[in-house]
Formats: sequence, structure tokens, C-alpha cells
Amino acid sequence: MPERLAIYRMYKVLVADRIPDSALDLLRSDKKYDIDLKTGLTEPDLVKYIPEYHAIIVRSATKLTSVVIDAAKNLKVIGRAGSGLDNIDTVLAEKRGIAVFNTPGSNSQAVAELTIGLIFCLARNLYPAFGSLENQKWDKSKFLGSEIKGKTLGLIGFGQIGQKVGGMAAGLGMRILVFKKQPLQRSPGYEFEMISIDKLLEKSDFVSLHLPKTEKTYQLIGLNELKKMKPGAYLVNCARGGIVKETDLLMALKNNIIAGAALDVFEKEPPDDYGLINHNKIIATPHIGGSTIESQERVGEDIVKSIMEFLETKYVFI
Ligand code: MLT
Repeated sequence: MPERLAIYRMYKVLVADRIPDSALDLLRSDKKYDIDLKTGLTEPDLVKYIPEYHAIIVRSATKLTSVVIDAAKNLKVIGRAGSGLDNIDTVLAEKRGIAVFNTPGSNSQAVAELTIGLIFCLARNLYPAFGSLENQKWDKSKFLGSEIKGKTLGLIGFGQIGQKVGGMAAGLGMRILVFKKQPLQRSPGYEFEMISIDKLLEKSDFVSLHLPKTEKTYQLIGLNELKKMKPGAYLVNCARGGIVKETDLLMALKNNIIAGAALDVFEKEPPDDYGLINHNKIIATPHIGGSTIESQERVGEDIVKSIMEFLETKYVFI
């Protein structure tokens, strides 16, 4: 029997980032849940509102800092609709006995598809070609691209998203190199080679990052690593801002150390400085990796189910 810790008449849930209606309806369908939808909350706003809630649901925009978690006197559970937990002080949450759930895997298809899309964009100069045509220029000869079939894709990180990207890329005829610290539990079902990070950087035509942001991965890719890449190679980051040292990437692009980069994530979102984004060898999107209709529905419903199941097995409702 699960341990029952307390008795509640009603669970108060703060939905602090937008989740799809299907997920909200699931919560609303159960009268035990009293839901407030308040988005765009700053740290002081959260400190003010959070004490009354038993559960909070966030995506990546809301930051659950130590200050916010300290103020969360009644909080039992945090639901992160998505996979990255870097916007939550999970260490303090654990100390305070607050459970934290995320939905790893629920948006992996969406992130993997964006990664492949960006690889195509880089290989075929799709952004600049579109920009040029939009400006009524017919610069056909300027946009000579290359095929990705036969090229080498280096995956740094090989969890659910990295493995999906590898599968899609292998299906397109790319050779897959992988750098992963822990041994792989299960074969992903296609050919790949495990290799050191230095060799991967040296040999890949495209390097794609699929790691969480932690103290260990912060600025993992800086000028030294970029210098190890081929001059014609491209970097893709749909994982987390801060894993690439942005000032070093800009320097590498200005000095033709690599051919270009595609970024969906930034150290500061939205960025304060657009110098890197405005560089002509960068293509960039505003952290839309997980933003598909299908993925948002899955992520929202999965996180709501985890929270409901947790509260209902841990606490007695009368
Ligand atoms: C994730 O961590 O799930 C993705 O980056 C998507 C997101 O945070 O919105």
C-alpha cells in the first residue's frame, strides 16, 4: 500500500506555462483539482502565488529557482511538460520532499525531426536561398548545396532524442558516429560507431548535440572543440543553450573555422544580444524543438497523468 501522508479536500494546481486544452480538460474533468492558469510569472510573482498550491506545471519558460521553491510551503509535486529540467532547482526540490516529474521521450520525435530539418537547411542553404528570393533576387548559382547521403553525422549524447536523430539520419544514408559516456543499454537497431569526442569532432560533417544542460555539459563546445571540427562542417544544437559557448561559436564563424551552425536553443532565452543569430552562417529558431501539435498534446497529457497519479496515491482525498 502506498504511504498516505495527508488529507486534502482539493488539490490546487498552478499551470504556469501554456499546455494544450486536452491536458487542461483532463485535470478539469476531475473535481478534486482546482486549476489556475497564470503564465508569464516572474520570480517575485511566483514567490507571491506559489504558497497556496499543491502542484505546479511548467514548460521551459517558468523558472523554479531556489527562491521560488523555498516559498512553496504546500507544494508536493512539480510537473515539467517536456524533458529538460534545467529551469528547476531539482536538488532543493528533492531536499524539500517535492516530487519532480518530466516527460522524457514524449517530445523526442518533434525534436529529432527539427534536428534533421535543420541539417537539410544547412546542407542546402535553404534560409539564405529563401531570403534572397524574397528580396526578388534569382541567385541560383549562389546556393550550391551538398547531399547529406554519404556524409557523417556525429551525435554527442545518445538518449531518446539522439537515437531517433541517428535512426532518421541512417535512413537517409548518413554514417553515424556517437559519443556517449555511459555504455549503451540497448541497440537502437541501426549501424553506428561509438567514438571519442575528439575523433567525432574531427570526422563529422555535421555535429549534433543531444545532451541535458548540467554543470558537466556547460560550455562543452568551445573554441578548442570547434577547432577540432572540419572547416566545412556544421554544428547543430537543439538540446540546450549554454552547452555551446556562444562567444566562441561567433569567433569560429567569423574566422571560417566551421562552415555554419543551426541553433534552436540559447544561453539566454530570449537572447539579449543578437550578434550570433544575425551572423550569415547561422540559422536559428526560437526553441521550437518540442513545439508540434502532436508533441505538445502528448507532453501535456503525460505530465497531467503523472501528477494526478502521484497525488492520488500519496495523499488521501475526502
Ligand atoms: C524539452 O526540454 O522538452 C524541450 O526543449 C522543449 C521545451 O522545453 O519546450
